[in-house]
Amino acid sequence: MGEKGVCCGWGCRELVLLGLLLGMTTAVVALSVVMLTEDAAETTPDPVTTPPPTVPPHSFRIGVGRADVTGPVGDVPLMGYASLDQTAGGIHFRLFSRAFIVDDGASRVVFVSADIGMVSQRLRLEVLNALKEKYGDQYNQANVVLSGTHTHSGLAGYFQYTLFMITSKGYIKSSIEPIVNGIVKSIEMAHTSMRPGRIFMSKGEVEESNLNRSPQSYMNNPEEERQKYKSNTDKEMVVLKFTDINGDGMGMLSWFAVHPVSMNYTNRMVSGDNLGYASYLFEQERNLNALPGEGSFVAAFASSNLGDVSPNTRGPYCVNTFEKCDYLNSSCPIGGTKMCVGFGPGDNMFESTRIIGDHIYRKGKELYGNAGQELNGSVHGAHQWVNMTDVTVQINSTHTATTCKPALGHSFAAGTTDGGGDLNFTQGAVEGDPFWDGIRDALLGAPSNETQDCHEPKPILFNTGEMNWPLPWHPAIVDVQLITIGSLAIVATPGEATTMAGRRLREVVKQELQSKGGFSKAEVVIAGLCNIYTHYITTYEEYQVQRYEAASTIYGPHTLSAYLQHFGGLARAIAEGKEAEVPQGPEPPFFSDKQLFSLLPNNPVDKKPASTNFGDVLEQVYPVYKVGEVASVTFVAGNPRNSGNMTDNTFVTVERFHNSTRTWTLVHTDASWETRFHWLKGSGGLSNTTVEWHIPTAAQTGIYRIRHFGHYKQRKGITGSTILPYNGTSDEFKVTKTYWSRATG
Ligand SMILES: *[C@@H]1O[C@H](CO)[C@@H](O)[C@H](O)[C@H]1NC(C)=O
Ligand SMILES: *[C@@H]1O[C@H](CO)[C@@H](O)[C@H](O)[C@H]1NC(C)=O
Ligand SMILES: *[C@@H]1O[C@H](CO)[C@@H](O)[C@H](O)[C@H]1NC(C)=O
Ligand SMILES: *[C@@H]1O[C@H](CO)[C@@H](O)[C@H](O)[C@H]1NC(C)=O
Ligand SMILES: *[C@@H]1O[C@H](CO)[C@@H](O)[C@H](O)[C@H]1NC(C)=O
Ligand SMILES: *[C@@H]1O[C@H](CO)[C@@H](O)[C@H](O)[C@H]1NC(C)=O
Ligand SMILES: *[C@@H]1O[C@H](CO)[C@@H](O)[C@H](O)[C@H]1NC(C)=O
Ligand SMILES: *[C@@H]1O[C@H](CO)[C@@H](O)[C@H](O)[C@H]1NC(C)=O
Ligand SMILES: *[C@@H]1O[C@H](CO)[C@@H](O)[C@H](O)[C@H]1NC(C)=O
Ligand SMILES: *[C@@H]1O[C@H](CO)[C@@H](O)[C@H](O)[C@H]1NC(C)=O
Ligand SMILES: *[C@@H]1O[C@H](CO)[C@@H](O)[C@H](O)[C@H]1NC(C)=O
Repeated sequence: MGEKGVCCGWGCRELVLLGLLLGMTTAVVALSVVMLTEDAAETTPDPVTTPPPTVPPHSFRIGVGRADVTGPVGDVPLMGYASLDQTAGGIHFRLFSRAFIVDDGASRVVFVSADIGMVSQRLRLEVLNALKEKYGDQYNQANVVLSGTHTHSGLAGYFQYTLFMITSKGYIKSSIEPIVNGIVKSIEMAHTSMRPGRIFMSKGEVEESNLNRSPQSYMNNPEEERQKYKSNTDKEMVVLKFTDINGDGMGMLSWFAVHPVSMNYTNRMVSGDNLGYASYLFEQERNLNALPGEGSFVAAFASSNLGDVSPNTRGPYCVNTFEKCDYLNSSCPIGGTKMCVGFGPGDNMFESTRIIGDHIYRKGKELYGNAGQELNGSVHGAHQWVNMTDVTVQINSTHTATTCKPALGHSFAAGTTDGGGDLNFTQGAVEGDPFWDGIRDALLGAPSNETQDCHEPKPILFNTGEMNWPLPWHPAIVDVQLITIGSLAIVATPGEATTMAGRRLREVVKQELQSKGGFSKAEVVIAGLCNIYTHYITTYEEYQVQRYEAASTIYGPHTLSAYLQHFGGLARAIAEGKEAEVPQGPEPPFFSDKQLFSLLPNNPVDKKPASTNFGDVLEQVYPVYKVGEVASVTFVAGNPRNSGNMTDNTFVTVERFHNSTRTWTLVHTDASWETRFHWLKGSGGLSNTTVEWHIPTAAQTGIYRIRHFGHYKQRKGITGSTILPYNGTSDEFKVTKTYWSRATG
């Protein structure tokens, strides 16, 4: 399999037949089934008694919390571009879960935004199980929303449906555990920090930070609908400001529609991408003198209707010939889809991440500063499980239609201009290709006529809804959920809604809420990548064009209509105060750990070059750096997977010497934007770590050193192994403001 991945949002190149299908028949037969202990099921919950509310009128009790969800940063594939070769190798900056709880005295709601690709149904069920053990029914299906920022540089491995397990190298216990623990811990921290407070809202436009990557699909929406909006992406950011009763800031929560794919598929370091960086900047500013990830102020930049929205603002062009890509199929005359790549605004992915993250942060800060519209009243939560494979929708006064069993179309394999597929698929395919269809039929069997007809005009590539071995390839039972905080409604979308799909959802929810007296002026936001991943949600009209987003709208052309019906129903229930009466719907499966499989082999024992030790320096720092330069040191290393639980810990430190006390103080960790921890895997168990410190121009001059902490695996006895810690330290070096002629050595 080649070097690069595919797409954004979720694509697939490897996924495409070759790797996948060949892999399927052989690999899955030989899959190493992870034997895991059964859950300690159904212990009697230990309900926490809430103190009687002593809330002053028109205020809420609110709590905020943040916790690390980074996970094992070696070998595990990154989640997003669906490239099995894009495996983790270190940390750009750490990932966090950020939780917000609002209680009106009678009910409460929880919103979590985590720096992960998306929330999976498995992840949500595991989090809810853990919350139930701690808090009984206080936190439940209806009042907890879990949303992923959609960074494409978080770890995979936390899914239970077969397609996602294949692109994740299976269900990886060491990958899902830190995410579950981090999300639960962030909620716990919010729970214990609860106190009377107030919430203010504000809105504004973020300029020059997103563009539509499928404008030809957008243009297929009705003209009179398009005329209601001035742009083919939503520019608006909505910000909530949380303060305590004295007006002191506790946190901010915002939504803005952009794909966190500023870091492209060549990146191996775990990263929060543009939205994660915006949170980082906001929290660093508010939590004075705190290291990243510490401090009580929590700032979340959550995902929204980003389905067709790219951060690569210079747009796509052919990287080989510098021509424009074909407008309709995003293909290049030479090299096809793969050569058509979106870039900008920076000259490399780190710069692009920094610029987009900075734009988003600045607008968030401005809106936080002027947030004046107070949210008051009550909070509500409504949730339902829906069998999305056969929802009947009314398409006009005389006709109905239904949603379909899940399937992915040919254009899914083309990827997007944020990361194209390797094979000769192109976006906009409304006809199958005999070559690929032949391979599909031979390996997987042809899709039924019923499913093909249902998905028209999508030519089906992966007939996932009719593939159930060893487990269903895609979900049938999907979470729909809506929560409200005063006049604000948060639509928890189970995937990636496009710009126009998001607008229609907001409209319907708003109308339903306002149709009853309770909500005279509702504001509606779309929260993306919530609760379960079902790929994309396009409008019916966009679906006809069959670009990547439409090919990935897995329940067919009426997917959005079905959601409009169900989210509208939840809004009506809340407006009528009948959310408790919403039928729960069919429960989704929770496959036992024994049914899930892992394709990630155990890592071998670590080796080191002759006459070295783990932690020894292979390439030393220079003696002097000027601010703005990059200090770099390479150590003999072990696989970071050995390090098990590095939650709230660090692989890297940058330390500054204090002459008066003869001590070193911590300046940066691996959670810092300024440090890059690259783990490079060699052959036969050899590996090394290069730590870079991108010295900020504001750095204090003085004497510094860089340290690296890790663990290596050693053979013990004949078959056993043991894991031991190591550390390494660079030479001391000087940072100056003026020195610049270091020359070359
Ligand atoms: C893309 O469309 C152009 C015409 O718009 C066509 O010439 C080209 O062959 C198409 N490319 C592929 C790979 O289908
Ligand atoms: C990804 O980013 C790297 C570094 O910024 C750049 O060199 C490369 O061309 C980019 N590749 C793609 C396909 O975007
Ligand atoms: C809620 O806020 C609105 C405007 O911010 C205000 O007009 C209204 O009186 C408030 N209601 C309550 C119950 O405080
Ligand atoms: C969903 O609906 C389909 C079609 O009615 C049905 O065959 C299937 O069993 C349902 N799935 C679940 C998990 O209830
Ligand atoms: C309703 O939709 C069907 C199917 O698209 C179409 O055949 C029919 O003419 C439509 N009826 C009305 C009243 O628009
Ligand atoms: C893709 O490649 C296969 C094999 O080379 C070929 O048979 C098929 O026609 C190609 N499809 C397109 C759309 O170019
Ligand atoms: C599917 O449709 C094709 C032609 O439309 C027909 O030849 C074939 O028999 C159908 N298959 C089944 C299983 O009904
Ligand atoms: C990992 O370490 C953190 C911080 O030391 C601790 O809170 C957490 O419980 C640990 N998790 C596991 C699974 O050991
Ligand atoms: C550091 O402190 C020692 C005494 O502890 C002193 O001799 C030396 O000059 C100091 N160096 C600098 C650079 O200040
Ligand atoms: C670090 O490991 C990589 C991958 O094996 C290798 O290419 C590189 O030369 C190593 N660096 C050093 C300084 O040994
Ligand atoms: C670093 O490693 C040395 C040698 O194994 C050990 O003595 C020391 O405690 C370690 N330091 C830290 C901070 O872990």
